[in-house]
Amino acid sequence: MVGGGLGLGLDLVERLAYTMGAVGRDWRAIMIGSGSFDITAPYSAWEAWFYDRFIAPAVLDLKKERDADFAQMIPPRGHLLEVGCGGGQITADIASRNPGLQITGLDLSWGQVKRVTRRTRGCDGRVRVVRASALDLPFPDETFDGVYSIASIKHWPDQERGMAECVRVLRRGGRLMVLEADRGCKLDDARRFVGRYRVPAVIKGLAVIAFRMGVAGYGPDLDDARALLAGLPLAEAEARRLDGTPALVMLGRKAGARGGDRPKRGRIPADGSE
Ligand SMILES: C[S@@+](CC[C@H](N)C(=O)[O-])C[C@H]1O[C@@H](n2cnc3c(N)ncnc32)[C@H](O)[C@@H]1O
Repeated sequence: MVGGGLGLGLDLVERLAYTMGAVGRDWRAIMIGSGSFDITAPYSAWEAWFYDRFIAPAVLDLKKERDADFAQMIPPRGHLLEVGCGGGQITADIASRNPGLQITGLDLSWGQVKRVTRRTRGCDGRVRVVRASALDLPFPDETFDGVYSIASIKHWPDQERGMAECVRVLRRGGRLMVLEADRGCKLDDARRFVGRYRVPAVIKGLAVIAFRMGVAGYGPDLDDARALLAGLPLAEAEARRLDGTPALVMLGRKAGARGGDRPKRGRIPADGSE
């Protein structure tokens, strides 16, 4: 009875947290502005450890479940850049599944750089790791055949600049994929995702609320994602939700490809479909 009451209370709080999507932008501004929870500050050692231990495996599970989507969004050959690669669980997975790939993993956190270096030791030297910021990528223009980033852009202090940097280092015709928690995500999708966290089941309800407020609450919604893509020299730019997950993706191909593509500004479909 008491347990049932608590469960019902938690369910209501979770639902309440998810109806707060509309104030998500203010929430981000208030929290970052007051310095209370500035997710654009570099990861501390314990944050990096916590993420790598409890959350990153859930992101990797999601990636594995949606491998068909990822295979379409991430080129299987050439030299790719992963921006904000974290501890490299996804880097190692992508490198091991695609022997034709070379990956440069980049992250701001020393702790994560050490982890990804360790984790990708078995990849025949096809992964190299760089510590740098997404806002100042230390590579010449048009270096990479593809650039992707997973769950990192919400941490960048200047997302427009980071996106422009990603496109700058992309070769013409190369693909961009930026995935992030969707501020407009559905409660059920968040529950399913948080269900994969490697934390005790009893705290998963609270983790759903924390995800809403502290993760998705800081992410872009579909309109933000479209605004981030607008004006970039991308062909086939689109922002869409990844159905069944609490994430959205921003996709595009650098314009001026061999086929003579030109940027199609303002061509992002209103409903996110192709
Ligand atoms: C939530 S983790 C995601 C890690 C990994 N992509 C994954 O999905 O498991 C975000 C990562 O972005 C990195 N990061 C944050 N701000 C960054 C920046 N300005 N430049 C590069 N990396 C950054 C953090 O250090 C952290 O490792």
